[in-house]
Amino acid sequence: MDPSWHPASWRTKTARQIPSYDDGAALGAVERELAGYPPLVFAGEARNLKAHLAEVARGKAFLLQGGDCAEAFADFNADKIRDTLRVVLQMAVVLTYGAGLPVVKLGRMAGQFAKPRSADVERQGEVELPSYRGDIVNELAFEDDARTPDPRRQLQAYAQAAATLNLLRAFTEGGFASLERVHSWNLGFCERSAQGQRYQAFADQITDALAFMKASGVSDLSTPEIKRTSFYTSHEALLLGFEEAMTRVDSTSGQWYATSAHLVWIGDRTRQLDGAHVEYCRGIANPIGLKVGPSMGPDDLVRLIDRLNPADEAGRLTLVTRFGADQVEAKLPKLIRAVQREGRSVVWACDPMHGNTIKSSSGYKTRPFERVLAEVRRVFAVHQSEGSYAGGLHVEMTGEDVTECTGGAQAITDAALADRYHTHCDPRLNAQQSLELAFLTAEALRADRAQMREAS
Ligand code: PEP
Ligand code: CO
Repeated sequence: MDPSWHPASWRTKTARQIPSYDDGAALGAVERELAGYPPLVFAGEARNLKAHLAEVARGKAFLLQGGDCAEAFADFNADKIRDTLRVVLQMAVVLTYGAGLPVVKLGRMAGQFAKPRSADVERQGEVELPSYRGDIVNELAFEDDARTPDPRRQLQAYAQAAATLNLLRAFTEGGFASLERVHSWNLGFCERSAQGQRYQAFADQITDALAFMKASGVSDLSTPEIKRTSFYTSHEALLLGFEEAMTRVDSTSGQWYATSAHLVWIGDRTRQLDGAHVEYCRGIANPIGLKVGPSMGPDDLVRLIDRLNPADEAGRLTLVTRFGADQVEAKLPKLIRAVQREGRSVVWACDPMHGNTIKSSSGYKTRPFERVLAEVRRVFAVHQSEGSYAGGLHVEMTGEDVTECTGGAQAITDAALADRYHTHCDPRLNAQQSLELAFLTAEALRADRAQMREAS
């Protein structure tokens, strides 16, 4: 262990995007209380995820990371958790079956509560209030009380994360995620759509394959993976006081682990080399993510890789690129070449959401689905021509039939955004759009692998 690092050493650095609380004593009390709570995940699970991600880094598996932009206290219920999980499972089946690769499933769930904002304050008419920073900090309602950061919300976030994780574990280990149920994951409103039918055809083939395997003596008793699946959780490590309180020494390895999630990531606004967020993340042994936006240059990236993964451990670092469809060709090749030149092992994942946010004519923040698809296509094409592996997809999505991103097979228009715009923060893909994206990604991945086979 590095003696210069401690779970609290971030406090000596500049911390952006962390709210200031009026009542320091109340904040301290909450952090002490959290520090005494049980961990949400175990170090051994984080190590398993790291091993899976090492396979992704080697081009032998694919990473699917998805869920809410911001989880909310108000829509916390079993149906919502189940429906999001169901779509992630569907997407994973499409990717596994379509591309012939194991898929590592990672939710933006069970702890994705804290949000970075481009402005500290929000103005409506004459009134100026602190920006909404996620339910773990304050409330969305544009009222003085609601917007005042309240440390006790961290305890509620912990409780919601624990209950969400409990249900996710039950679903993924208790039979809901069994491949024998692939048909039942097709959601009602999705079933009749073109994407739903395409999925149905996949599910038919999988069912036939399972029947064949069963007849050949491969059963869910000999192969428990048929009945169960691994599912991991992740969120942005933004609210460092909370993360510090959830950081524990693992008795097996003697190393420090974030126990708030299996993987945590550093956002695009808080990735300064000497900043608090990089300081916190460098010392934990979990796999970590780093968002890479258009302002990241190759030298900065190499310095960050050195800081965050000095031992060049495979699976430790996932780079989540999010340029915007129009900037992929200009930004990505230089970064890939720098990583190749330094001979560093990373997972390259594509977040086609955060660089493609626009304000629609109806006033809503939206993401045109064609741009989302275009970013994925271009990222795959660039990796292919640079001889590197596009190993993951990072999306903001939900199992609900929302209207937040325009376009897709349902052709959601600007005017239709108002119908079911439910997100607390960024616009998410709905179930049909998520499936459509999974089909496109599976095709790109398949083409990629065909080319790799030819080349070898
Ligand atoms: C996010 O993932 O919700 C987010 C804020 O992303 P970024 O840091 O890439 O802007
Ligand atoms: Co977001």
